[in-house]
Amino acid sequence: MTHHDLVVLGGGPGGYATAFRAASRGLDVAVVERDRVGGTCLHRGCIPSKAVLHVAEVLSEVHRGDVLGLRVSFDGLDGQALSEFREGVITTLYKGLSFLAKERTTLYEGHGSIVATEDGLAVDVVASEGGEPVRVHGRDVVLATGSHPRSLPGVAVDGEVVQTSDQALWFTEAPERAVVIGAGAIGMEFASMWHPMGSHVTVVEALDRVLPLEDADSSAAVATAFRRRGIDVLTSAPVSRVEVDGGRAVVEVEVDGAVQSIEADRVLVAIGRGPSTDDTGAAQLGVLDDHGFVMTDAFGASSVDGLWAVGDVRPTLALAHAAFAEGFVVADRIAGVEDVVAVDHVNTPRVTYCHPEVASVGLTESEARARHGDDTVATTSYPFKANAKGIIHGSDGLVKLVHAAGEPPAGAPGDAGPVLGVHVVGPHATDLIGEATLATAWQAVPTELAAITHAHPTLSEAMGEAFQAAAGVPFHGH
Ligand code: NAI
Repeated sequence: MTHHDLVVLGGGPGGYATAFRAASRGLDVAVVERDRVGGTCLHRGCIPSKAVLHVAEVLSEVHRGDVLGLRVSFDGLDGQALSEFREGVITTLYKGLSFLAKERTTLYEGHGSIVATEDGLAVDVVASEGGEPVRVHGRDVVLATGSHPRSLPGVAVDGEVVQTSDQALWFTEAPERAVVIGAGAIGMEFASMWHPMGSHVTVVEALDRVLPLEDADSSAAVATAFRRRGIDVLTSAPVSRVEVDGGRAVVEVEVDGAVQSIEADRVLVAIGRGPSTDDTGAAQLGVLDDHGFVMTDAFGASSVDGLWAVGDVRPTLALAHAAFAEGFVVADRIAGVEDVVAVDHVNTPRVTYCHPEVASVGLTESEARARHGDDTVATTSYPFKANAKGIIHGSDGLVKLVHAAGEPPAGAPGDAGPVLGVHVVGPHATDLIGEATLATAWQAVPTELAAITHAHPTLSEAMGEAFQAAAGVPFHGH
């Protein structure tokens, strides 16, 4: 029997962020992990997908060679080298992370499930090769077991022709014809990977626009860019069935009340992810809702004393950086830090690495109008085609600000209220959103932001231009 101050079940971003922060607060921390520290994000999600998306981005520039004055041609993928690059990135990060995990925590390798004992909470750990479980006691226990791809009724995932992102990421040659079911982050990213590699890609989305959680203008801009590049985008088109025969699939899609059939060599099911809380003991402790998510307060505490949750097992944003943030908060609460502030999920950036990239923070225009009323919300946009670096990149995206119209807060200068949301479609949008996060989180007003100098020529100037226009002093915009 072993005792620790804190036992974290799951070593993905949520789990290791909790563990590392708790260790730096002086707690004795154990992490239970049945696979490898780093979780979905490092081993089969964010990181390998971004490596492949980088390759696709380079290839997109190659395809623009005639415009750039380059005589280059694409002779196909070197699957072996692509795999080595993708896996090399994972290995480099994994080495660093596992070093830190061993240095800062006690690592138990095996499947863990939480039990309530006479002695408080514990995690029973069964090593992968089986045997007697080891009971690891924690004064506090954090559940951080992540999520898995959701399946679609009528669609059997065989891992070969019909895949989830878990399988699809490891391709060594791009499929000839791909159908991507779901135009969320995963679907849009895979479409952006495969298309420049030569695939004919059809994205099929049940709702009326791609990236339906983003601002409507961002959805429209990215859908236009996809269609212009030759990616077929079907919206208001739910998939009802997929038939596989002889290595080929037929995807049945409902469009305007009629069923359309699309043939494909590869079908990606990217219709969302569900919490991985089965076999964790959480159900027995009565902390799960009907969908299997852990119910917690804003600080990640469940109704069971000493049991907390972070990351995708909570019904908050399923993003690695949201999991990091939740982990820091939970660890600080457990360590008894005073005045811990709950994670601000509204001002947590959302990033999709499709081409063009889409990023946002704060409220969408429709959310802001619903929350604050039509009369008090205004928007200001600045297009990348009026920005020098945007033109060089061949971008036609935009920066859109959603801000409060009228009175600024007491003491703030100018005549436009705080920035409520920022939406970016275009090159490096996922990096540019960092500045916007400061603006929304600090409730900055456009006049203050307009006085900040942006380097020239940079993509970030588009944000500066939008701030200036919202402050009533447009520079190149109007
Ligand atoms: P998602 O929930 O973001 O999108 C799934 C889409 O599938 C929705 O738009 C939904 O309307 C559509 N859909 C559902 N049933 C359908 C049907 N029968 N036919 C056609 N369309 C259908 O889920 P996704 O993209 O699988 O991502 C899972 C999670 O992982 C999300 O929370 C996402 O934010 C996160 N993630 C984030 C990334 C990033 O930040 N870059 C990258 C990858 C994933």
